[in-house]
Amino acid sequence: MFKHATIEKNLVLMGVLILITVSIGGLAQIVPLFAVETTIERVQGIRPYTPLELAGRNIYVREGCYNCHSQQVRPFRDELERYGHYSLAAESMYDHPFQWGSKRTGPDLARVGGRYSDDWQAQHLRSPRSVVPESIMPPYSFLDRPLDYGNIASHLRTLRVVGVPYTDAMIENARADLEAQAKPDEDAAAFTGRYATARQGSFDGNAAVVTEMDALVAYLQMLGTLVPFRDVTPEQVRQQ
Ligand code: HEC
Repeated sequence: MFKHATIEKNLVLMGVLILITVSIGGLAQIVPLFAVETTIERVQGIRPYTPLELAGRNIYVREGCYNCHSQQVRPFRDELERYGHYSLAAESMYDHPFQWGSKRTGPDLARVGGRYSDDWQAQHLRSPRSVVPESIMPPYSFLDRPLDYGNIASHLRTLRVVGVPYTDAMIENARADLEAQAKPDEDAAAFTGRYATARQGSFDGNAAVVTEMDALVAYLQMLGTLVPFRDVTPEQVRQQ
C-alpha cells in the first residue's frame, strides 16, 4: 500500500483519499435515515392543521409575524414558567416551513392558544395598543377583509406531498371544512370527525363573512393546544 510520505506529498491523491474517507462516514450517518419512517417521536394529539388554521398560518407567514415572534419554548426554567411546557419536535412536525424563529421582539407564541379569548385576539390584532397600551406591535386591522380560500384544497394536497397525512376526504372537503369551522351555525359533525379537538367559532366576532382575521385567530388559538400536557406533565412544570 501507499507509504504515508507518498500521500502527504501528492495533493490530488490525498484529496481523493480524504473524499473517500469522509463519504464512508457520511453514508453511515445518512443512509439509515432513509430507512426510518420518521426521526420524530410520535405524540398523542398531534393532527394536521384544519383548512381554516392552515389559511391562518399562511397569513402568519405572509405578514412576517415570525420576525418578532418565536414559536419554540426552550427547556429552561424561566421559559417554562412564562410560557408553559417546552416545545416538542412533534408539535411542529406538520409545519412546512417550521416557525421556530430566532427573534423575540414580542413573546413566544408556541403556547398562546387559549390564553386569551377570540375577541381579545381579534381586537389585539386590529389595534395592539387598544388592549396593551405599551405595545410596539403594528396594527393589522386590514385582516378584516374576506379570506380568499378558493385554492385551499391545493394547499392541503401540496402539504401531503411533503408528508402531512391529509386524507382524500380532507382534501375533497377542504372548502366545506373551512366554512364549517368559521361559521358556528353550520353542522360541524363531519368537520370535527376529520379534525379531532378542532373548535368551531366566529373568531373575529362576525359569523357572516369568512375573513383573514377568522383564519389567523383560529390558528393562534390552537397553537400549543394539541398535546394534552395535563396528563403527562408533573405539577411544577405545568405552573405558569
Ligand atoms: C414589530 C414586531 C412585531 C410584529 C411584526 C408582530 N408582533 Fe405580535 N407582539 C409584539 C410585541 C412587542 C408584543 C407584546 C405586546 C403586546 O401584547 O402587544 C406582541 C404580542 C403579540 C401577541 C400576544 C402574546 C402574549 O402572549 O401576550 C400575539 C398573539 C401576537 N403578538 C401575534 C402577532 C401576529 C399574529 C403577528 C403577525 C400578524 C404579529 N404578532 C406581529 C411584536 C410584534
